[in-house]
Amino acid sequence: MTGGRLSLAEAERLVTERLGETPRAAHSRFVGLVMQQLAPALDADPLLWRIVGLVHDLDYFAVAGDWSRHGLVASEWLAGRLPRDALEAIMAHDHRTGVQSAAAMAEMLRLADGLAVLDEHAGRDRTIVALREGVLETITGSRPFLVEIIGGTAVRHGVALSSLATLLADLPRQGPPDGGSMAP
Ligand SMILES: [Fe+2]
Ligand SMILES: [Fe+2]
Repeated sequence: MTGGRLSLAEAERLVTERLGETPRAAHSRFVGLVMQQLAPALDADPLLWRIVGLVHDLDYFAVAGDWSRHGLVASEWLAGRLPRDALEAIMAHDHRTGVQSAAAMAEMLRLADGLAVLDEHAGRDRTIVALREGVLETITGSRPFLVEIIGGTAVRHGVALSSLATLLADLPRQGPPDGGSMAP
C-alpha cells in the first residue's frame, strides 16, 4: 500500500484481495453503502464511513477463526491509513475482541453490520416491514441481540427505525458484483 489516507479505490482493491468474491466481500460492500447513507444524519463524512464499512471485515479469513483478533488485525494493517476513530470503529465492531467504543462511527458500524446480517437472513422485504412497524424482535430469530444492536443504537443516536427502512429500500440487494444486483 502507498501512504496517505486510504482511497475508496484502494479499499475496494483490498476487499477483493483479502476476501475474494465471497459472500463476505458482498457483505462488506453492502455495509459500506449503509455507512455512506447513515453518515449525513450523524454529521459525518460519507466517504470515510463508506471506506470504514468496506474494510471492517478485511481480516475475516486471516484471523483463521480466532475472533478475539477480528478487527484488530485489520486495524493493524490499516494503521496510518485511516484516522484514529476509524481504526477504533473497526477494532470495536465485534464484541468478541472485548474492545468497546461508544463513538458515533463505531456505534453506527455495529448497526450497519447488524442491519446487513438481518437483511441477509430475514430478507429485504421482511426487514423493511419490521423496521417500519418497529417490531424487529419478530424477525431476528436466532439473533435476538440484533434488536439492541440495530434498534437500541438507532434510538441512542436519534436515528428513526423508519429512516433505516427507507435507506434499505434504496440499496442494491447483497450479492456478488457480477450478479447484476450490486451498483458499480
Ligand atoms: Fe466482523
Ligand atoms: Fe461484518
